[in-house]
Amino acid sequence: MSAPLTIALPKGRVLRAVAPLLLRAGADTAALLADDRTLVRESPAAGLRFLLLKPDDVPTYVEYGAADLGVCGRDVLMERPSDIYQPLDLGVGRCRMVVAGLVGRPAPTGVPRVGTKYPRIAAEHFARRGVQAEVIYLQGSVELAPVVGLSDLIVDLVETGATLVQNGLEEREEVAHVSSVLVVNRAAYKLRHERVRPFIEALRPPPPARAADRVAPGGAGA
Ligand code: PRP
Repeated sequence: MSAPLTIALPKGRVLRAVAPLLLRAGADTAALLADDRTLVRESPAAGLRFLLLKPDDVPTYVEYGAADLGVCGRDVLMERPSDIYQPLDLGVGRCRMVVAGLVGRPAPTGVPRVGTKYPRIAAEHFARRGVQAEVIYLQGSVELAPVVGLSDLIVDLVETGATLVQNGLEEREEVAHVSSVLVVNRAAYKLRHERVRPFIEALRPPPPARAADRVAPGGAGA
């Protein structure tokens, strides 16, 4: 049997969202989701091996060929463009990148300070709008920055909006829509295509049912 396909996955909430897709593609998701500290999870019957990584590291493992494929957010790829294929939007991990500030506190008249994990995306956003901004790089808990006066604004991801609300912040502008995408090492895509392409197809979300295909309640359907 050929070497397993190696898939780089982000630890955390995206992993839980992607697991049902991997299950449909034949993976052993019980091993994948097991609550322990092992960073390599095997799914031998499916010929798959999973690497559990910090989300930002997924493109690096895939670009350098340590993994054949990976799953990462568009936010990661926007912040640090990588030389990898992006053949499929997985339709999970949907959220938005926004500019936010303290509720009822208008943006300052001078150069705003912007706290963010995404300095490139933030700088490009404000440059596109012709606004000069001072971008301050942070690694997490970004919503804290305006609360303690470190920044006037933040650029960060919003999913439910709970983190903004619970820290007294409000959305000011939308920067981008974000979702999880499948990424593929360029060499693996060519040299392992007999394994890689069926795996991509197995992960493809089913098309939404057309009205004519749906079975009417109590009816036999067309
Ligand atoms: C992300 C993001 C926001 C939060 C948004 O942070 O950076 O802080 O989730 O989610 P919500 O709209 O559903 O509240 P994460 O949980 O990854 O932690 P971090 O602050 O350490 O980056």
